[in-house]
Amino acid sequence: VSKDSVQVAVEASNIVERLYKAKTRPEKACFNLGLATGGTPVLTYQELIKKSRHGSIDFSRIETFNLDEYLGLHPTHDQSYAHFMNHNLFSHVPIPSSSIHIPKGYFPDLEESSLDDVVKKECEEYEKLIVHKGGVDLWLIGIGRNGHIAFNEPGSSKSSRTRIVELTKDTIEANTRFFTDSDCSVPSRAVSVGIGTICEAREILLIATGANKQQALYDMVFGEPEHCPAAWLRGGAPVHVCVDESAFAKLE
Ligand code: F6R
Repeated sequence: VSKDSVQVAVEASNIVERLYKAKTRPEKACFNLGLATGGTPVLTYQELIKKSRHGSIDFSRIETFNLDEYLGLHPTHDQSYAHFMNHNLFSHVPIPSSSIHIPKGYFPDLEESSLDDVVKKECEEYEKLIVHKGGVDLWLIGIGRNGHIAFNEPGSSKSSRTRIVELTKDTIEANTRFFTDSDCSVPSRAVSVGIGTICEAREILLIATGANKQQALYDMVFGEPEHCPAAWLRGGAPVHVCVDESAFAKLE
């Protein structure tokens, strides 16, 4: 539990660095890092950029896998998660574009009737890619105020995999703040990895800041996973949880 969001970012980035070093030093291996978007990880990405500039993390030794992408936004759209990642991290570190993996959410030439089948295939490919690359070493995730992780909304099953998901009213409302200057509103659907995909990572790093995450964090620890998807994390890989005092308050 840290004082504020800046300190959460420092702690979280130190965990990333420690695990990156543990994996890459002895084996000369690549570190497979799962990544999130949204407001919370922005400061952590700034800390990781500093570590890249100081030479303590070499992004040419990292492959990244993102949690999710809106359905229907071109990757260069200012609200796509591909754009978010370029803006907040990838354009500031020497990561080869071939090492960046983000679920595909843009299928312009498809009829609605064939969309589901094509996206289903893409989702299966994304799952296979993660396995083919040796699995995710550390998945950095945030948490929605309704307890969602990635875009696994309440009701998501423990074994869920990458798929098309419908966003809840609460999530659409929470994300409207990012779309104020945009030419569109929050899409109602996204492509998201599943709870099963996240829980199979070797380790997970959950970050949360601000009072509006208090209930979700409480339910993650004590609640029912059917209502709070983050509660499924209790049965998966080890989870590091970095929160600030205001997010933690209800667990005190
Ligand atoms: C983002 C994601 C979401 C966010 C969550 C919290 O890729 O999958 O689960 O982590 O909605 O978002 P913020 O950080 O904006 O509160």
